[in-house]
Amino acid sequence: MDAGAGRGPPLGILSRVTAPEPTGIVVLVSGSGTNLQALIDASADPAYGVRILAVGGDRAGIAGLHRAGAAGITVFVCRVEDYDTRAEWDAALAARIADHQPALVVSAGFMKLLGPEVLGRWTVLNTHPALLPAFPGAHAVRDALAAGATQTGCTVHVVDAGVDTGPVLAQATVDVEPDDTEATLHERIKAVEHPLLVEIVGRAAREGITVSDGKATIP
Ligand code: GRF
Repeated sequence: MDAGAGRGPPLGILSRVTAPEPTGIVVLVSGSGTNLQALIDASADPAYGVRILAVGGDRAGIAGLHRAGAAGITVFVCRVEDYDTRAEWDAALAARIADHQPALVVSAGFMKLLGPEVLGRWTVLNTHPALLPAFPGAHAVRDALAAGATQTGCTVHVVDAGVDTGPVLAQATVDVEPDDTEATLHERIKAVEHPLLVEIVGRAAREGITVSDGKATIP
C-alpha cells in the first residue's frame, strides 16, 4: 500500500484552502444586549461565518453598547429625539448602517420600529420573546403571563413594516410555571432565545435567505 495515500495532494502540487469570507452584519440593540453577546461569542469561531461590523443603539450608555465596545466592535448611537421626524431618523439610521456595508442587519432587542429606508435596503432579522403571532409588541412576556398562557417562547423572524408581523424563520417553546414572574419567565425565554438567534443568523449568513410572497426561507 502507498504510505502517502489519503493524506492530501502528492508532494510538489501546491494546495491552498481558502476559507470563505465571513458575512458582515450590523446588530441593533436597546438594552442589556445578552442576545448580542451570544452573537459576539459565536462570531469568535471563524467557522460560524459572521463578522459583526458594528453595533448600533437607539440611546447611549446601554449595556449592549458596552458589550460591543468590550469586544472591540465599532458602536454608533442614533436617537429618535435628535431628529424632527421619524422619517429623518429612519434615513439617518440607514446612513449609519450603510457606513459599514453589511449584508444583513439583526435587531437583537432593538425597541424601535424600523422605517422604509432601513427595511428597503437590508433584510433585517428580529428576535421576539413570544411565539408570534401570539403576543406581539413591547410587552410580550408580561402579556403572555397576563393571558394565562401555559406555553410561550421566542421567535426569530424577518422584519416587515408591521409590529412583529414579518415572516417567521424559527421558534422555540418554553413552559410557563405557576410561580413565574415576568423576570423569571423572560430569563428562561432568553436561555432558548440566544441559541436560536445564533443558529438562524449563522445559517442566514452562510446559506443566504430568500424573502418572497410573505415567506422567508433559508435553503
Ligand atoms: C429579548 O428577549 C428580545 O426578544 C426582546 O428584548 C430582549 C432583549 O434582551 N425584544 P437583550 O437586550 O438581548 O438581553
